[in-house]
Amino acid sequence: MTKTYNIASIPADGIGPEVVSAGITVLQALSEKLQTFNLEFKHYDWSSETYKRTGKYIPDGGLEELKQSDSILFGAVGAEDVPDHISLWGLRLAICQPFQQYANVRPTKIFRGTQSPLRNCDSGDLDWVIVRENSEGEYAGQGGRSHRGFPWEVATETAIFSRNGVERIMRFAFETAQKRPRKLLTVVTKSNAQRNGMVLWDEVAQDVAKEFPDVTVDKMLVDAMTTRMVLKPQSIDTIVASNLHADILSDLAAALAGSIGIAPTSNLDPTRQHPSMFEPIHGSAFDIAGKGVANPVATFWTAAETLEWLGEGAAAKKLLYCVENVCERGILTGDLGGKATTKEVTDAVVEEIRRLS
Ligand SMILES: NC(=O)c1ccc[n+]([C@@H]2O[C@H](COP(=O)([O-])OP(=O)(O)OC[C@H]3O[C@@H](n4cnc5c(N)ncnc54)[C@H](O)[C@@H]3O)[C@@H](O)[C@H]2O)c1
Repeated sequence: MTKTYNIASIPADGIGPEVVSAGITVLQALSEKLQTFNLEFKHYDWSSETYKRTGKYIPDGGLEELKQSDSILFGAVGAEDVPDHISLWGLRLAICQPFQQYANVRPTKIFRGTQSPLRNCDSGDLDWVIVRENSEGEYAGQGGRSHRGFPWEVATETAIFSRNGVERIMRFAFETAQKRPRKLLTVVTKSNAQRNGMVLWDEVAQDVAKEFPDVTVDKMLVDAMTTRMVLKPQSIDTIVASNLHADILSDLAAALAGSIGIAPTSNLDPTRQHPSMFEPIHGSAFDIAGKGVANPVATFWTAAETLEWLGEGAAAKKLLYCVENVCERGILTGDLGGKATTKEVTDAVVEEIRRLS
């Protein structure tokens, strides 16, 4: 019997609704063409507009309802008239943290037909997976402010590294590296300056490495990692880094692969006790919202990652193949140097899907 997956869609803010709608269009076209799985979408209007109207991003009981879905397709959250820390903690982190989506996976590669801003870096020269710790570290939410508004005001932002938290993300990263042909993992750290949490991070990485003798490991300070990504992209395969470090490195990675408009991100609960959440890496992009020019490719790759996680790996590969064909045909949005609109790219991908044999 054909399996049906229930997908919760949360387009939220800015270009989120535009790219999520494009993502659903191609997923439905793929499901119709392949007839190997069905998708049912349930739409949630949780956004900054909802917050401004009701005082809440997620209504009471909302998370319980969301738990019933097989996966979540998220757009982007952030509005010009809501402070970013309110929107991020009110919606995205309010899902990731209680659902223990501790592994954030961010693949990057140069698609056929697109160009890296780096000289001498072609498709195949940059093919990375960044594994980001997604539940603690610098985004643990620990800290506080006192003496607000006075010249002697203080604020603390405490990074949390627990042995359990580091161990589980390291094991996940080693497993990810082990499944890739090069079996190469770079552990990013800053243990020269941060002598507690990051030293624990390094020690746990060394311990976990013993369980994976077939994976080659190297260690890089985060500052040196930025130069290696730019100067020697071919020397990198899988990367594991803390919440903050990987957040920054993955935007750089996306830009080096051509644009932030192509990169996906998966917030995974590897225990599968909660649904995982899939989203493009980019934000709500105020400057282009509502203009119909947002690159939907990141959401298409996000859709492929969703299918892969649901166990529909063959369909995921077909979707990516169609997306790369469209890039190769030169149907690209402005961020990739083209002139196509969101709709034109989406229509072209649907056309490729219909042509699949
Ligand atoms: N996961 C999330 O929901 C998420 C992630 C990052 C930022 N944000 C939020 O989004 C808002 C804007 O943040 P920002 O400006 O730092 O980052 P952004 O990713 O929204 O935009 C950065 C730049 O990239 C461009 N861009 C982004 N996505 C694109 C796409 N698909 N196609 C073409 N161009 C694209 C934008 O036009 C902009 O010039 C803020 O409120 C921020 O907090 C949310």
